[in-house]
Amino acid sequence: MPAAIEAKGIVKRYASGLTAVRGISFQVPEGTCFGILGPNGAGKTTTIRMSYGFIPLTAGDILVLGRSITAEPRLVKSLLGVCPQEDNLDPDFSPREGLAAYGRYFGMAAQDCARRADELLDFVGLSEKASANVRDLSGGMKRRLAFARALVHNPRVLVLDEPTTGMDPQARHLVWDKVRQLKHEGVTVLLTTHYMEEAAGLCDEILLMDAGLILDQGAPGTWSAATWGRIRSRPRTPPACPTAVPPTWRTSS
Ligand SMILES: Nc1ncnc2c1ncn2[C@@H]1O[C@H](COP(=O)(O)OP(=O)(O)OP(=O)(O)O)[C@@H](O)[C@H]1O
Ligand SMILES: [Mg+2]
Repeated sequence: MPAAIEAKGIVKRYASGLTAVRGISFQVPEGTCFGILGPNGAGKTTTIRMSYGFIPLTAGDILVLGRSITAEPRLVKSLLGVCPQEDNLDPDFSPREGLAAYGRYFGMAAQDCARRADELLDFVGLSEKASANVRDLSGGMKRRLAFARALVHNPRVLVLDEPTTGMDPQARHLVWDKVRQLKHEGVTVLLTTHYMEEAAGLCDEILLMDAGLILDQGAPGTWSAATWGRIRSRPRTPPACPTAVPPTWRTSS
């Protein structure tokens, strides 16, 4: 299977002098879900931000569907749907206007944008808030809208940074079901999460990061109890499990 995302020796050193990502490499095969786990400050968001060109790489490169984010940032951005960790929704637009504007940015026809916006608002349960002020949405509603926005232009690759953090269980299940459906349709998903059950239930492969380095990598079902234990030692409140958990997970509890 060809790699939809390939990180090649990526390094990020911030202006402060801190090196948040220290020369890591990984490949995400097309049509799979790849999870990055790790404690606060591990470098997950820094890695994600480099992957969609939000911050420049200090060294190395990231290829998306074979195209370099450093050499062809505009092209790569057009291939990606992104749900960032931080709230960057435009407060000047209502949810419907914001989604439609996003579609137009990606070159969709105006009528398609309007239809797609309404379809996605319905999907994430925000139809009643379609014309609301974005500032008046709850935190979980903003996360739903950010997730919907990532899907507007039907991207072939999705990059989701803690997509379900702050969502209620119903919304989480919507996201999980959607990720599975998109994967089935051939979409590639790169996500970060602090929820081990989410990673185990959705991801074909998980990369465990700490201090900017890869500690471990593999399919969740193949991970040893010791590996799961290393992650579990720094848990956040986990959501309900989306699917049956792998056997190694059960033995670790
Ligand atoms: N703009 C920045 N300037 C300087 N340092 C930064 C910047 N952004 C992040 N960092 C630092 O880089 C390190 C990695 O941060 P990052 O946001 O990538 O972690 P993370 O794994 O996403 O953590 P979390 O689980 O809390 O989201 C941290 O030490 C953080 O303080
Ligand atoms: Mg982060």
